[in-house]
Amino acid sequence: MTACIVGWAHTPFGKLAGETVESLIVKVASEALADAGIAAKDVDEIVLGHFNAGFSAQDFTASLVLQASPDLRFKRATRVENACATGSAAVHQGLKAIAAGTARIVLVVGVEQMTTTPGAEVGRNLLKASYVREEADIDGGFAGIFGKIAALYFQRWGDQSDALARIAAKNHKNGVGNPYAQIRKDFGYEFCRQESDKNPRVAGPLKRSDCSPVSDGAAAVILADVDTALKLNKAIVFRAAEHVQDFLPMSRRDILKFEGCAVAWKRALAQAGIALPDLSFAEVHDCFTIAELIEYEAMGLAPEGQGARVITEGVVAKDGKLPINPSGGLKAKGHPIGATGVSMHAITSMQLTGTAGDMQIKDAKLGGIFNMGGAAVANYVSILERLR
Ligand code: COA
Repeated sequence: MTACIVGWAHTPFGKLAGETVESLIVKVASEALADAGIAAKDVDEIVLGHFNAGFSAQDFTASLVLQASPDLRFKRATRVENACATGSAAVHQGLKAIAAGTARIVLVVGVEQMTTTPGAEVGRNLLKASYVREEADIDGGFAGIFGKIAALYFQRWGDQSDALARIAAKNHKNGVGNPYAQIRKDFGYEFCRQESDKNPRVAGPLKRSDCSPVSDGAAAVILADVDTALKLNKAIVFRAAEHVQDFLPMSRRDILKFEGCAVAWKRALAQAGIALPDLSFAEVHDCFTIAELIEYEAMGLAPEGQGARVITEGVVAKDGKLPINPSGGLKAKGHPIGATGVSMHAITSMQLTGTAGDMQIKDAKLGGIFNMGGAAVANYVSILERLR
């Protein structure tokens, strides 16, 4: 591949009172440049991932990145959007500018502010990322979509409530070690398994503990071509970057297969010239626990219908053969839509440089990322390795 991550920044995720979309962008853009040791004047291109869809009155946000420094004025800046994969869409767009030879250094920012929007409106905004003609009437916002997917999965493969609770418990346990996480509480399997006042049903078989929370936050990464990167302090190279887009209507697909996810992993592993077991860990898109379960199958950890075995046998635990979501995933970390994919790249870079603190996977060498928009519609896989 032609590009590396050379610096990063990450705000805490959660309900960030006193912050705005602008203040979050400015904070991570400035901190990522400082982390990379790059002056604003040396940035060639800016890409902002921001979903919005009604969360913020301020739309057209690409130029807000310029508020970080007058030296960013007159640079190319563009906002990209691809639902919950908006952050990875921004990262991959930056890679394209470098591959095309039109940029040496790209500043990529992902941001979302969701908690200032009332609950019912949050659901309506998120459902704009469904196939509105057929799917937007569903109750419960996007949880309604994944509640339906979970119910269909249970119908085809049997009740998986145990597996979903184990996934939730694993990710919450991991999240305790993540200083950026919105929820840093080890809820435990029993709490996640039982419906209760503190863990009510949200949609279909999904309880609150099966859902990622509503979040504010931002993350940024600096990309550079490999030659430039090797002269800097840190260089995390893209061994692969694959984007696979599927049909939007769920009615046109077997929604229990996440076929776009499967194709993206297959292509990315081939591009990197590795097999799945070569990965030291992966950060994957657990917007709802049922998504992580189906992703085990789509990435090739288990045959169809048997994803539960992967969690039950401890394969994906932090000390398992392939730790999945050592950061706590979206479940514990939070899911500020436009920031999530950039966060995954920043946290994976921390792992590969041995700077992930209590999230650290020992001797992490190759990190996989899967970021998904909609119900397996936009599928992005990156595979990263430390060069220096
Ligand atoms: N997981 C665990 N705990 C959660 C939580 C979650 N997802 N969401 C909220 N909580 C906790 C809060 O911290 C709070 O705890 P406290 O009582 O100890 O202070 C409590 O639950 C109540 O919070 P509240 O915000 O009133 O919960 P809610 O019932 O209104 O919202 C969901 C819960 C699951 C409906 C909401 O988080 C949601 O809509 N999530 C999905 C977001 C989404 O669709 N994203 C896009 C994915 S594609």
